[in-house]
Formats: sequence, C-alpha cells, structure tokens
Amino acid sequence: MSHVLQEPVAGAPSARQADVCAMVIFGASGDLTKRKLMPALLNLRRSGLLPDTFVIVAVARTDATPEAFRDTLLDSVAGFAHPPLEPAEREWFEARIRYVRGELQDPGLYARVRTALEELGRGGTRGNALFYLAVPPDLFDDIVGGLRQAQLAREEEGRWRRVIVEKPFGRDLASARQLNRQIASVFREGQVYRIDHYLGKETVQNLMVLRFANGIFEPVWNRRYIDHVEITVAETVGVEGRGGYYDTAGALRDMVQNHLFQLLALTAMEPPNSFEADRVRDERVKLLHAIRPFTPDTIAHDTVRGQYTAGMADGTRVPGYREEPTVSPTSTTETSVALKLLIDNWRWADVPFYLRTGKRLARRVSEVAIRFKQPPLLLFRDVCAEQVQPNFLIVRIQPDEGISLRFEAKVPGPNLTVGTVRMDFKYEDYFGSAPSSGYETLLYDCMTGDMTLFHRADSVETGWQIVTPILDAWSATSDGVAPYQAFSWGPPEADALLARDGREWRKP
Ligand code: BG6
Repeated sequence: MSHVLQEPVAGAPSARQADVCAMVIFGASGDLTKRKLMPALLNLRRSGLLPDTFVIVAVARTDATPEAFRDTLLDSVAGFAHPPLEPAEREWFEARIRYVRGELQDPGLYARVRTALEELGRGGTRGNALFYLAVPPDLFDDIVGGLRQAQLAREEEGRWRRVIVEKPFGRDLASARQLNRQIASVFREGQVYRIDHYLGKETVQNLMVLRFANGIFEPVWNRRYIDHVEITVAETVGVEGRGGYYDTAGALRDMVQNHLFQLLALTAMEPPNSFEADRVRDERVKLLHAIRPFTPDTIAHDTVRGQYTAGMADGTRVPGYREEPTVSPTSTTETSVALKLLIDNWRWADVPFYLRTGKRLARRVSEVAIRFKQPPLLLFRDVCAEQVQPNFLIVRIQPDEGISLRFEAKVPGPNLTVGTVRMDFKYEDYFGSAPSSGYETLLYDCMTGDMTLFHRADSVETGWQIVTPILDAWSATSDGVAPYQAFSWGPPEADALLARDGREWRKP
C-alpha cells in the first residue's frame, strides 16, 4: 500500500515491480474485465509496475479461437483506456493473454488451467498465480471447488496462490458466513483478497495519511471538538443496465455495508500500532464492532430509504427506477439510503455519524465532512452571531480529489463582518492527475502480497451484522420507501433526519 501511480515526489522511494505471476481471470468475457481489470493492468504496465513475464489466463465459455477471443477483449478494452491503447501496448498484451475456454462446472476446465499455469511457470511466472473471481457469487462455489480438485490453491516450492473475490460478499450475515466457509475450505485467510475498490482510491488511503502523518489533526479528532461527521457517496447515474442485480440488492447492500462502512472505519478508527496489514485491519474491524446496534426503534427513526422517480437531464426525461429495464414496476428496492449511527467508544460517544448514498442524486460527489464544534463563547454574537458558521474539514474522495478547510475570516472593511473562506488542497495541483479507478492499487497490492486494503472475513461479517437487522425490518414492510425526484438530494425524510437534531446536510 505504498505507491503513487505517477512519478514519485522528489526523495520518495519508487515502487518496486509486482511479483512475477499469472493472473487467471474467471469471467474474462464479462463487463468487469473490460471496464476495470484490463484498463487497470494497462495503467500498471504504463507505470512500469508489471513485470515483463506477467501473463493473463483468460477463462470464459465464449466459443472463439484464442486469437479471436484475445482480439475481442483488446478491442473492448480500447474503449476504456485513457489515454488510448497504443499499438505497442496492444502487442505487449496480445503476447500475454492466454485463452482457456470451458464451463465453470467442468473439472476439465481446471485441469486445463493447471496445465497452462505449469507451462507459464517455466516461462517465468515461478508458478505464482492470482485467481480473480470476476463472476456473480452464485458461481464462486463451482470455481472454488474446481480449484480445490485440481489442487490449484496449494502453495508449495516457494510459489504463491491468491484469490481475489469481488463483492457482493453475501447478501446478509448468514450468506456471508456461508461464503467465507466455502472459501476457507480451500484457501487460507492469508490467500483471500476480498476487494473493495473504494479502499484502492488514493483519497481514501489518504484519510490514513491525513490523520496519522500530521500532528495537527489528532488532538481535535474526537468528541470534544467534533460536532458530527457526514459521509456522502452520491451518484448521478441510475442503475445502468444492472437493474436485475440491483433490484435484488438495493443501496444498503450495494454501497453502505461495504464502501461507506470502510470510509467510516478509516475516518473514525484508532491509530494502528503499525501499518502492517493485520494491525490496520484490526482497527477497522474494531471500529465497526463499536457501532451501536440498530434496534426496531432506531431503524424506524434513524434510517431512511428512498427510490428515485423520473427527472429531467439536459431537457430529456430520465425514467424513474420502477421504469428501468429489468426492474419490477412495483419494486420497493431502495436506491438511496440515509442513516444516523453512533459509535460507542471513548473517542466518539454521542457524536452522530450521518451516512448517505444514492443513485440519481443531484451531483456525483463522494466526501467525508467533519464538522467542528463552535467556539465555546461566541464573542461576535452581538455584531454578527448569525454569520459565524461552523468549521468544516472536507475530504473530497471524488471527483476533484482534495481536502478543504472552511473557516471564518473578517471581511475587509470598516464593519466587523465575518465571512466563510476555504483553504483548498487539490491533488491535481501537487501530483498531476494519474488515471486510477482503485483497481490498479489493489491488483498491485495483491501481486505484492499486501492485504492492508482488502476485507478480512471478520470485517465482512461485522458489516453484515450491523445492516442485517435493517434489511430484515425493511423487508418486513414495503411501504417505507420514500420517493425522490431524480437529480435531487434525496427524499425530504433524509433532510428531516438531520433537522431533528438541529442540523442539515452539506450541499456539496
Ligand atoms: C459499486 C456499486 O461497488 O460501486 C455500483 O456496485 C456503484 O452500484 C459503484 O455505482 C460506484 O463506484 P465509483 O468508483 O464509481 O464511485
């Protein structure tokens, strides 16, 4: 977890190349492979972080010759590569993609993967292999079983074998446990990399640097100085052709249990004893354990689920959620969530954390906003008390990555007038902009054996433990979903959640 994907700043050590290895992608003809995995590998190659002997073993059931499969894959990647794929880069990948065709239920497929890995081992991968499960979770069992039978998970003679598992890791506590058990029957926990692409985002990792590499924040990072914290992950897109999956998931499962909880954990966790992977993961889990469990009462008062209705974008009507293809016209699945939670520990007792996320919201923006308490005595109350605004520290995750501090200053002039000003740090100004989706960092980390930014089994289960009572309560009644107009900031009930506490959401 160590690298910047562009030129390192003066004096910083440059990142070492990933270990030699083969990456076996199950689901190589799928969307994730072309949209995220291949572009990320391309960016790693461009940063000089992929060894020359790196190879991709692409597994799919597409009926095509190896050459045709490879060409189609690289053609489709071209649409997602920024800047565009150069002919020399295309050739580099062409020489490194091996197609293995087959059905995931067929043991013969795994025997073929094994043969491919043995051959590639002689060509310079040293037998190291990373299995990427880019398939829906109902196929994990087949793959994991196939890998076991073909003895592909065994680490011997100095070679490593690792598996990357994509979310969703289950759909509630029971299914997550079951999934973890399945995987654990074949792989040791130290071989399992559960990916959350939010943890790969530079700005998310920077939360740790901000907090633990700077002396000025730690003393005020607690209940004495912080009034509340808002975590927003807002999207303008709708369900984008994923209605089938989304309608059975909803925003709580899709975003809160994983991405928002990890943002929360990094914002609120205690400093780890070291940056060793398990020490950081211990602290993240410990924080999740400290979240006060939801009860029927707090679910009713402190959680809001919304669903978008139609709206207008650039003069064109955009359909409501229930009109989306493959979504039930009577669906009660939530496309937005707002909730308030409390963390029962010494640092955060009584400090509310407000989390919100949703599709078709007013702006695409992800941020963590820390609101500080007002000064103990408002000296300016006679002249301009109403003008004195609270201080905010805002960590902008995306877009426009950076950090800003909002504080009060005197407006020049003969009168004592107070105005809010902003001190702004933008990543781009200091480090240029490096294209990165989060997958670059995470693939690289897996190839170097750094598990810091991956979910451990216990963190997944703890996340589900918190949201499962909410899911159960919501599924017991279908009339609790509040409609909101597309491109608004969500249902009015989400505003009421803060208004009750005398607060309001930031409008980023
Ligand atoms: C995914 C969710 O995990 O994250 C999607 O399944 C969501 O529904 C996406 O759109 C958001 O990721 P990003 O990186 O675009 O903020």
